[in-house]
Amino acid sequence: MISIKNPSQIEKMRRAGALLHDVLMYLRSQVRPGISTLELDAMAEKMMREHNAIPSCKGYEGFPYTLCTSINSEIVHGFPSKRRLEEGDILSIDTCLILDGWQSDSAITVPVGRISAEAQRLIDLTEECFWKGVRLAVAGNRVGDISSAVETCAKSYGCKPVRALCGHGIGREMHEDPEVPNFGEAGHGPRLREGMVICIEPMISAGTWQVKCQSNDWTYEIADGSLSSHYEHTIAINANGMPELLTYPEFSWETAEFDERGVPKISQNDSQNAEKEEKL
Ligand code: MF3
Ligand code: CO
Repeated sequence: MISIKNPSQIEKMRRAGALLHDVLMYLRSQVRPGISTLELDAMAEKMMREHNAIPSCKGYEGFPYTLCTSINSEIVHGFPSKRRLEEGDILSIDTCLILDGWQSDSAITVPVGRISAEAQRLIDLTEECFWKGVRLAVAGNRVGDISSAVETCAKSYGCKPVRALCGHGIGREMHEDPEVPNFGEAGHGPRLREGMVICIEPMISAGTWQVKCQSNDWTYEIADGSLSSHYEHTIAINANGMPELLTYPEFSWETAEFDERGVPKISQNDSQNAEKEEKL
């Protein structure tokens, strides 16, 4: 059953999303060669708790940490560890929190120091897959429209969406209906309508779409060891039927400028850098 949220519930989800955005942008600024993912996990938990939020991955079906930190060929649900990040790694940070009873969920993939051109291309095309999907997340369209746009975009670069895991509805629960796969057919699946809140989360492999689970029973990696990338936002279909990015509050469809791929010219990362430069 797909739950529909009223405007005051969406306002609460907006606050949760804004906090999660701040947490992820802070973590992004802390990623560098030599830091461990366990240190990032501690920072995230502290920041969430300081803002009266609950780190909702921690304890979810027994998951032991605040963050899912997945490195290189790991696609999702990586365990933070003492392992230090190395120059050239790509790190996906995926996390959820609950604020005032409402969940939020977002993921970014971050370069560690200087990375290869192939790795940067994979990060960029994963974000492009998200933007190709989210612009179709308007009232009246169907979930399959998003899925097919993500898949088509990935394949246009010779990359594959992972099939074992998918996006989802979100609200009081982290995972609600509907499922939002990263592959599928346009015109199929549940119809989107005002008040639905979903997570769109392309998980893209540079090689095979097949995954294997590590011995911790949580972490998925790409079966052939290829690099992979993940990008996710929580979005609400608002009163004018448009997808509002709850975990990217400074983005607005009215004011954003898009490049020829349909990706905002100012990325989440650039706007943060711009802010930093202003402060210097
Ligand atoms: N953010 C993940 C998702 O999109 C949730 C991770 S599962 C958890 O579904 F156990 F880590 F919470
Ligand atoms: Co999710």
